[in-house]
Amino acid sequence: MQGKSVNILGIETSCDETAAAVVADGKVVKSSVVASQTKLHEKYGGVVPEIASRAHIEKIYPVIKEAMDEAGIAKDDIDAIAIANQPGLTIALIVGVTAAKTLSFAWDKPLIAINHLHAHLQSAIMSAESLEMPAAALIVSGGHTSLYDYHSPLEPRLLGSTIDDAAGEAFDKVATILKLPYPGGPSIEKTAVDGNPKAIDFPRSMLGRDSLDFSFSGIKTAVLYYCRGQDMKGENKVDSMSRREIADIAASFQAAVIDVLVKKTRRAAKKIDAKTILLGGGVAANSSLRTALQEKCDSSTPPVKLLVAPKQYCTDNAVMVASLAYYKFKAGLFADLTLEPKASSS
Ligand code: KG4
Ligand code: ZN
Repeated sequence: MQGKSVNILGIETSCDETAAAVVADGKVVKSSVVASQTKLHEKYGGVVPEIASRAHIEKIYPVIKEAMDEAGIAKDDIDAIAIANQPGLTIALIVGVTAAKTLSFAWDKPLIAINHLHAHLQSAIMSAESLEMPAAALIVSGGHTSLYDYHSPLEPRLLGSTIDDAAGEAFDKVATILKLPYPGGPSIEKTAVDGNPKAIDFPRSMLGRDSLDFSFSGIKTAVLYYCRGQDMKGENKVDSMSRREIADIAASFQAAVIDVLVKKTRRAAKKIDAKTILLGGGVAANSSLRTALQEKCDSSTPPVKLLVAPKQYCTDNAVMVASLAYYKFKAGLFADLTLEPKASSS
């Protein structure tokens, strides 16, 4: 006889998406609701924490209700409540953490604390038929660029991360310099389609032969200098540039960032003798990055398998939270009602 499935309600409020989802047995997505705040932050060119927090407060219960309704599930059929409590903006995380604790208390269901970055990894794994380990995992998002040695869903080991800007942050800042719409990542990708990735040789910071850390502030500054001159005294030339010139800058910037991401991931894979590479996080939605990493995996000897998060689960969502929580549920790793949000990952 088949056992009863485990239904987990996942909640995500770490940055600018209010999300809830119901996932059965870590794999079957019964519902996924994401309320994006892009419109609210657009005019500021980046996420404003206070605005994000207030929007989460407004949306959190409607989003949870919608996820429950869409799943066609009553509270009695929920086995646990999972919440991403780190890393992220503290005043954004606090909304989801408080909602999850309230539901856990009111419904008398176990509470599961999830690391948002580890959840991004789960997006790459959850639809895979099989996973050969060890795996080298790259998470590229707006707030983080991290490489992991992945041996188990619950204990990925950090191999390296950014020492300054995250890759997504660099996309967002360069989009602002180029006066492209927010959020910057998708805008740069769209603009780059018409550009020549070899037009400008932007710097590729590798931080030494063995380093698995990243640095993207140099390339962002290089784009700024390119547009305003080395002394920064000139006007931003973007207004007088042709569409083609802007496309060339976007394509060359994107190519340089991808080059570094792919080389470092390959470096990490070699170091741990990885059989698989995992790719997740908002920037993983970028088609050129997905293609470049796939090519690198195919041409490696022996070839390495690439597992990439489906595009709809690259950016922030609660499916990845509920899915990862299944492993913690199985292991009996529950949080209590003193759970707090944490700005950085522990
Ligand atoms: O994972 P995510 O939704 O939020 C964080 O955890 O930070 O990632 C958001 C980031 C933003 O910086 C956004 O510009 C970037 O992912 N992004 C992209 C693309 N789609 C989203 N970057 C490059 N190409 C894309 N297609
Ligand atoms: Zn994220």
